[in-house]
Amino acid sequence: MAQFDGRCLLNSDIIEILKVIHERTGLDFSLYKEGTLNRRIVGRMRALELSKYSDYAERLRTDPSEQSKLLDAISINVTEMFRNPELFDELERVVFPNIIEEKLTKKHRMIRIWSCGCSTGQEPYSIAIAVSDCIEGSGSKISCSIVATDIDISAITKARAGVFGFSDLKEIGRKRRDKYFIKSGDDFEVAPSIRKMVHFKRHDVVTDRPFRFNDIIFCRNTFIYFNKELQEETQLKLCECLNPGGKLILGMCESLVGAASGKFVARNSALRIYERRVEDYSKSFVASDVLSQEKIDSIIRELNEEGYEENSDRRR
Ligand SMILES: C[S@@+](CC[C@H](N)C(=O)[O-])C[C@H]1O[C@@H](n2cnc3c(N)ncnc32)[C@H](O)[C@@H]1O
Repeated sequence: MAQFDGRCLLNSDIIEILKVIHERTGLDFSLYKEGTLNRRIVGRMRALELSKYSDYAERLRTDPSEQSKLLDAISINVTEMFRNPELFDELERVVFPNIIEEKLTKKHRMIRIWSCGCSTGQEPYSIAIAVSDCIEGSGSKISCSIVATDIDISAITKARAGVFGFSDLKEIGRKRRDKYFIKSGDDFEVAPSIRKMVHFKRHDVVTDRPFRFNDIIFCRNTFIYFNKELQEETQLKLCECLNPGGKLILGMCESLVGAASGKFVARNSALRIYERRVEDYSKSFVASDVLSQEKIDSIIRELNEEGYEENSDRRR
């Protein structure tokens, strides 16, 4: 298991609690924001009617169900289909059509997207629906693979099930609901054509090996829990995972931090769409224009080993 991060500047009561979580689960929240962590911990202490942090740490040591409850509280999974519709309008009007056109020009077959911090799946499924409509509109045979990751295994399990209630689909509109969902009792199941585009993985963006060669990375409303140092470190890591001209999309209240700001050009700062600078890419890798299809196929094989393949444990 990785060492508990020595750089944390949290108060000793919180460190004690995070150490228990780290010992039991391997998850290290020591670079998350103190205020956020404290609110979640105090919320759990209130629920258990405990007033001392040390008593709560003791409870955590002996009660695995409390460990899961605190993890759930820390990694708040709030999300929705087509969250920030104005962003999706821009993606469908400009960003996705441009990527499709570029792929066709370069004779590349696949669009690669990473939805990092995907929670219960609404974000990657919305992306898959929007991309599908754009591909259909272009009349091309380009395909799209979306890796959707989250630190929270219960969120990933729910996401994989791909079943949503009527109220979850309010932003979708009747036409898309009929096209991309199958009614099942009171619920709606994501259609197989969309399901097969999205590959869910439990993955910690801070500590696990990242997924490379993406055209777009969505990392929205996940940085809000990280302190500035961890935001910068993670944004630099995500930058390395983008193809030339690749886009990083942040949440509406998030921004690039420190050295990461110099690695991107803002394509739409109001909508938090940033593009990796080409000069930055050419320093670290050869431009994709000169990659042969053979080389691309070998990269795809490598990506499949890294987790871009269909999950064998999916429901269907
Ligand atoms: C508020 S949700 C955002 C969901 C979606 N991106 C959206 O904007 O609607 C934040 C998600 O980030 C996940 N998260 C927090 N820390 C993470 C980490 N280190 N690695 C991966 N996911 C993480 C949480 O579990 C949670 O599901």
